[in-house]
Amino acid sequence: PFIVTEPCIQCKYTDCVEVCPMDCFVEGPNFLAIDPDGCIDCSMCVSECPVNAIVNAAEADEAQQPYIALNEERARDPRWPRITRKKAPLPDHEKWKSVMAKKHLLLL
Ligand code: SF4
Ligand code: F3S
Repeated sequence: PFIVTEPCIQCKYTDCVEVCPMDCFVEGPNFLAIDPDGCIDCSMCVSECPVNAIVNAAEADEAQQPYIALNEERARDPRWPRITRKKAPLPDHEKWKSVMAKKHLLLL
């Protein structure tokens, strides 16, 4: 499956959700995750993300590896609902889009 990784945190642009044919995306307070059970590896969402947060799990580098389990866990959390319509990004997205290390800010 494809996975959402660190650049999404504190930005959450949500362009990705509109193109997913399987409605795989779930939404938390400052991050989105992909349900690996629904993802058909079409890769349509990848180019939609302005901060390149979406990658193929099979090609995840060392820093991205923990996001494989994280996407799986988030997709299973009943508090994280499906999201299929784009919405406004988080208020401080301009500030956070260039910050790479922000995993400690992830809200579950
Ligand atoms: Fe959805 Fe395709 Fe992205 Fe998987 S790769 S999350 S099926 S758009
Ligand atoms: Fe996140 Fe990029 Fe989607 S910032 S919400 S993965 S468009």
